[in-house]
Amino acid sequence: MGKRFMAINLKLSSLIYPYFVQTGANKKEEIDLFPQVFRFSLNRLLEDIEKIEKLGLRRILLFGIPEEKDLNATSGFKKGNIVALAIKEVKKNFPDLIIMSDVCLCAYTTHGHCGIISGQGTGSRMRAVFDNKKTLQTLAKIAVSHADAGADFVAPSAMARQQVFAIRKALDKNGYKKTKIMGYSAKFASNFYGPFRNAAFSAAKFGDRSGYQLGFSDYKKALGEIVADIKEGADIVMVKPALGYLDVITRAHLKFDKPLAAYNVSGEYAMVKAYVERIAHGARRIAEEKKLVLEILTGIKRAGADLIITYHAKDVAKWLKE
Ligand code: PBG
Repeated sequence: MGKRFMAINLKLSSLIYPYFVQTGANKKEEIDLFPQVFRFSLNRLLEDIEKIEKLGLRRILLFGIPEEKDLNATSGFKKGNIVALAIKEVKKNFPDLIIMSDVCLCAYTTHGHCGIISGQGTGSRMRAVFDNKKTLQTLAKIAVSHADAGADFVAPSAMARQQVFAIRKALDKNGYKKTKIMGYSAKFASNFYGPFRNAAFSAAKFGDRSGYQLGFSDYKKALGEIVADIKEGADIVMVKPALGYLDVITRAHLKFDKPLAAYNVSGEYAMVKAYVERIAHGARRIAEEKKLVLEILTGIKRAGADLIITYHAKDVAKWLKE
């Protein structure tokens, strides 16, 4: 298996492992319906990162879970915010690791939407509508606080118009020209984000995200979003989720030169875990999980992704050591 694995060139350096970091000490909390993924306090996060670094993983993506939420997402950018603290400590202890940080408002706003809200549509859909200017200003503040702490990449995921441009401008203006941007360029309004929202307590309190995320049949718009992110200055572009969108990954791979990331999202991960739990019992379980995961990640890679953000990364790194 090892050989075949290498043949399509799925290297550990192309995997990005997501982490959820929360305030407090000595916390490693399990998450509902999200097996083996945890909310770590900073000290426990550092312990875990030590392990994955030894296993050979090189890239992490950080998500913050704040103590307080408000309408302005203040806990996302205030001095000493949880993600900035984490970046600083991780950088100090693991200087070779590439730190990427998620830049969005949904974990920090009381309503759970990804931007500052100016209104909502009527009817059954109840689409949240952004105040785009205020949203961009807030995203830029979050990004600058992460860059200031030492993030190598900031990763805007709010799907606010011109978010990459606004963040690039703010980073440059504040002297962070070297901080790069991974845009969540083609982010679909997916039904596969459930476990993540349990993790980050970020489910929307009203309406849904279809006012700013892409409809899942709209691949042309998705490619347009990628073009826009590249023009605005993204260093890496992304398609998210991965599995239902392999065609979009391939189209983007064939069309654009930028490094392309695919996000193998929480629901896709939980689906594998549930399958393994229910279908493959006993001793067969681990072997089966390994085969399933390698098949899936190989498929994403084969579609054309250069980088894969995946909760399976830790297991893959362990399996490759065996
Ligand atoms: C924040 C964000 C989400 C994910 C990554 N960044 C959730 C959302 O849009 O609600 C989902 C990732 C996953 O499901 O693993 N905007």
